[in-house]
Amino acid sequence: MNINIKKCTLEDLRKLQEISYETFNETFKHQNSPENMNAYLERAFNLKQLERELSNISSLFFFVYFNNEVAGYLKVNTNDAQSEKMGDESLEIERIYIWSKFQKHGLGKYLLNKAMEIAMKDNKRKIWLGVWEKNENAIAFYKKMGFVQTGAHSFYMGDEEQIDFIMIKTLKF
Ligand SMILES: CC(C)(COP(=O)(O)OP(=O)(O)OC[C@H]1O[C@@H](n2cnc3c(N)ncnc32)[C@H](O)[C@@H]1OP(=O)(O)O)[C@@H](O)C(=O)NCCC(=O)NCCS
Repeated sequence: MNINIKKCTLEDLRKLQEISYETFNETFKHQNSPENMNAYLERAFNLKQLERELSNISSLFFFVYFNNEVAGYLKVNTNDAQSEKMGDESLEIERIYIWSKFQKHGLGKYLLNKAMEIAMKDNKRKIWLGVWEKNENAIAFYKKMGFVQTGAHSFYMGDEEQIDFIMIKTLKF
C-alpha cells in the first residue's frame, strides 16, 4: 500500500474539476433531486469557479494518491477564504472527498492529518468544517477524528435550504 499527497496547481484544474464533480455526485445523488444536484454541480465546479479558488492564496488543494492513482482530494481555507467568519486563528476543511472505491483505507484520516499539520504550522487554534446533517458517514468519521458539533448553518443545494452542522476540533487551549 503506497499513499502519496500532492499540492494542486492551476495545471491540475481539469483533473480537479473531474474529481470534485464526480465525488460530490456519487456522495449526494441518492439523497437529492437531479435538478438540485445539477444546479449545484454546475455552480460549484465550473472551470472558472475552480480556477478562482485555486488562485486564492488562502486556499490549498491536495490530491491523495493510492498506489499512484488519484483517490481523493482536500481543500482547506484560512483567513478570508473561509466560508464563515471564524477568524484568523481557524482553518476550515471545506472539502474532503475520497472516491467510494478507496474509502475505509485510511485516506480520509491521512488528508485530515495533512490539514492538522498545516493548521499547527500556521499556529491555528482550531479546525472547523460544515457537514450536511444527513451525511451520517462523514459525521461518524469526524467524531472519530475528535471533532465536536458546536452549531449549524444553512447551505443551499440548488433551491433547497439544507442544514450543515458546524464541527470543530480544538488544537490549542
Ligand atoms: C468521510 C470520508 C472522507 C472518510 O474517509 P475514509 O478514507 O473512508 O476514512 P478512513 O479510512 O481514513 O477512516 C479513518 C477512521 O475513521 C473511521 N471511520 C471512517 N468512516 C467511518 C464511519 N462511517 N463510521 C465510523 N467510523 C468511521 C475508520 O474506522 C478509521 O478509524 P481508525 O483510525 O480507528 O482505523 C470518506 O468516507 C468520504 O470521502 N466520503 C464521501 C464524501 C464525504 O462525505 N465527504 C465529507 C463531506 S463534508
